Amino acid sequence: MNVRFRLNGEPRSLELRDDESALEALRVHCGILSTKDGCQPQGQCGCCLALVNGVPKVTCAMPAAKLADKDVVTLEGVADDERDLLARSFTAAVGHQCGFCIPGIALRAKALTDRNPSPSRPEIRKALHGHLCRCTGYTKIVEAIELLAAARRGEADPRPGSDGRVGARLARTDGARDVLGDRAYTDDLDFPDLLHGALVLSEHARARVNAIDTTAAAGVPGVVRVFTADDVPGDRWYGLILSDWPGLVAVGEEVRCVGDVLAVVAAESEAAAREAAARVRVDYEPLAPVLTPEDAVSDGAPQVNPRHANLLSETHYVKGDANAALESSAHVVTGTWRTQRIEHLYLEPETAVARPRDDGTLHLYSQGQGVFDDRRQVASFLGIPEEQVFVELVPNGGAFGGKEDMAVQAHAALISHHTGRPAKVSLNREESIRIHPKRHPITMDYAMGCDADGRITAVRASMIGDTGAYASVGMKVLERAAGHACGPYRVPNVDVTAVAAYTNNPPCGAMRGFGVNQTSFAVEGCLDLLAEKAGLDGWEIRWLNALEVGDTVTTGQTLEKSVGLKATLQAVKPHWEKARAEGRAVGVACGLKNSGIGNGVSEWGKARLVVEDDDTVTIYNGYTEMGQGLYTVLVQFATEVTGLPASTFRCRVDATFALGCGQTTGSRATLFGGRAVVSAAEKLKAELDAGRSLADLRGAVFAADVVVDDTTAPGETRDGRIKTHTSYGFATQVCVLDGDGRVERMIAAHDVGRAVNAALCEGQIEGSLHMGLGYALSEELHCENGMPVTFKLRDLGALRAADMPELEVILVEEPEPEGPFGAKGVGEIGLVPTAGAVAGALAAFDGKRRRELPMRDSPAARAVSVGRRPRR
Ligand code: FES
Ligand code: FES
Repeated sequence: MNVRFRLNGEPRSLELRDDESALEALRVHCGILSTKDGCQPQGQCGCCLALVNGVPKVTCAMPAAKLADKDVVTLEGVADDERDLLARSFTAAVGHQCGFCIPGIALRAKALTDRNPSPSRPEIRKALHGHLCRCTGYTKIVEAIELLAAARRGEADPRPGSDGRVGARLARTDGARDVLGDRAYTDDLDFPDLLHGALVLSEHARARVNAIDTTAAAGVPGVVRVFTADDVPGDRWYGLILSDWPGLVAVGEEVRCVGDVLAVVAAESEAAAREAAARVRVDYEPLAPVLTPEDAVSDGAPQVNPRHANLLSETHYVKGDANAALESSAHVVTGTWRTQRIEHLYLEPETAVARPRDDGTLHLYSQGQGVFDDRRQVASFLGIPEEQVFVELVPNGGAFGGKEDMAVQAHAALISHHTGRPAKVSLNREESIRIHPKRHPITMDYAMGCDADGRITAVRASMIGDTGAYASVGMKVLERAAGHACGPYRVPNVDVTAVAAYTNNPPCGAMRGFGVNQTSFAVEGCLDLLAEKAGLDGWEIRWLNALEVGDTVTTGQTLEKSVGLKATLQAVKPHWEKARAEGRAVGVACGLKNSGIGNGVSEWGKARLVVEDDDTVTIYNGYTEMGQGLYTVLVQFATEVTGLPASTFRCRVDATFALGCGQTTGSRATLFGGRAVVSAAEKLKAELDAGRSLADLRGAVFAADVVVDDTTAPGETRDGRIKTHTSYGFATQVCVLDGDGRVERMIAAHDVGRAVNAALCEGQIEGSLHMGLGYALSEELHCENGMPVTFKLRDLGALRAADMPELEVILVEEPEPEGPFGAKGVGEIGLVPTAGAVAGALAAFDGKRRRELPMRDSPAARAVSVGRRPRR
């Protein structure tokens, strides 16, 4: 069909298929970058927003035919002065992180303030209802829109922070480009002769594959080739720790989950590739799936993964005699606590692009959290040396742990390797959810005792987590759950066991908090119950038991420095007391979270500072920018050390230098990457101090590799000492309910070591609170027979702007001597205590102690607009 419309003031005439959406018309046929695809065709994230005849519309849910004779405006078509104001408002308020949702929101903000020059906060939140942001918690987005409105009224002049020193609120590097949708995410990359790939996924959670017939698919016009396992020249199996995950499942093998890939179609267009993928016929012999970890480890259970027994891992921590201590305790509480499977819901689904380079190597564009791990695995998959894969990070649109494992990198590389052409493979939302690992559901049996005064005497805990069909990092998640099983409290007697088991459910792996959120929910509930028995309030019992320097954590590590827990308790105390004095239902919870993987793993920070011909300096490092602001803080470290303006520096991650540091995980990128940048910058500074200018230094490379290998594995000591982690972050959060039992306010006090950039720290914590409140109340990826019952964003329960309470973040600085300028990681701990604080407040409201997440039966959950569990 032919569709004529005006786009950004220009007439357009497109020849389109009948089934194409308006979003496809804009992105594929008009090259518009600012409209992003976060959930097509659901129409539930707002990333694809455009103004159609002046009205904001999600274009993914609109047939392209409806564009006929319309006037369409995207951010590209907004007047330059308005674009500038939008960019300055959002960057000044640090109202964006990964940026993927922001162009749609920025256009919404323009439309709102066109219509209403002075929108109230509730009006702004209401206007944002069609948008999902997974990073920010919306607070700074609302502030950005208020700033924009004030600027348009002539009452403000938004000025993004340009001071790059440590401690300043420097605006995010390249922020304006992100806000306006001008920067390319992986799916925005385009090359001449580009092929598109589409995957064929398993229809069953467990089945034997008898045959794969690609004949009909190969006959679809535009199809270049259909690949199966037989076409993999190297090792089909990959994985971050165990090589137990096949990029393609072969005939004769079993599929192990509904995210398994059976074939890859390469075609001249994505539409042709998807049409052909739908015509691949697979002959299955369905088998009964293993659906619970308890069943998986029972006698006679079928082995889920051929590379490992169903019992993936078992971690123990024992200190003193927990059983004896519980028997002699004045008060003991016991119970079973359950947490749910959670989808990351980063707004940018997975895409990878691969293309041949002139020198015969393969250029891989990856959005992964550890692109050098991607390179290693892709090279192995193709059976070529690692050096023949040049990997480049394209900073992603959110990850939260879900982009540690390979998704489609190997499939894009396979197409390019065989065809000699550039190739792109992009997942839609359903495919993304089916493939990438989730947050582990964990069942935890706890017993906790205290003496008559309320001092904890012992914790005995036994927990089992469902790691799904592939290990990913599941053994480490349960190890971390065990290592944090006593929370941030002094516990003299400990007996903890944590088991991870394979099932035929979607895989589980890394997700922000990494097992610690789960145990925190149980620990904080136990502590509230003990407080009641001991006659203390929630704050008092936490103060009494809070870790200090000299105390020992669950793993046996004695804390020697940077323990800001009591400072965070002090910081929230006035809020706690005021809310209680007002008769509010209020809950309090504390948390700790490792910064750095530790547990005996060698870790690195690696940096190269390269002086370019234009007298800028490129900072190469090995960790991924994924919205958390890593690039910005690395620039701040370099600025602080050298005294050069922040605008001198820009960051890159690619294989120009071999800077593999493993995954961007464990709240460690600022800690270790920052140390390396500081060290490299000191070398540059020495040259500047010697009187050389950047012009003199063009082409010079300043290098620093930092190795951290002094941590001990669980159960091991070194020179009689246990040091499982380089550093720990600490936090206390308070949840205040309104008179109807809805969450009205969250106060979060966090020990961040040193706030390198307070705005970014606040943003990380606000975003974590958003995720933690969803975890507490509404989020779940419920599966039946191994298949998620829904792929709809609203059903999955991530909160919308109007669902969010007021957030107050208090930064506490207890400098970490092993961190750059005293900093430690803040990316994960923000949601560790949240569910516990909400549960405590709900118990204060209606007397019901909830032990299972999400707490759907609560008035707080009923009040939010999302998270209804649909029936299949
Ligand atoms: S991509 Fe259109 S609303 Fe999500
Ligand atoms: S900044 Fe909104 S999704 Fe990342």
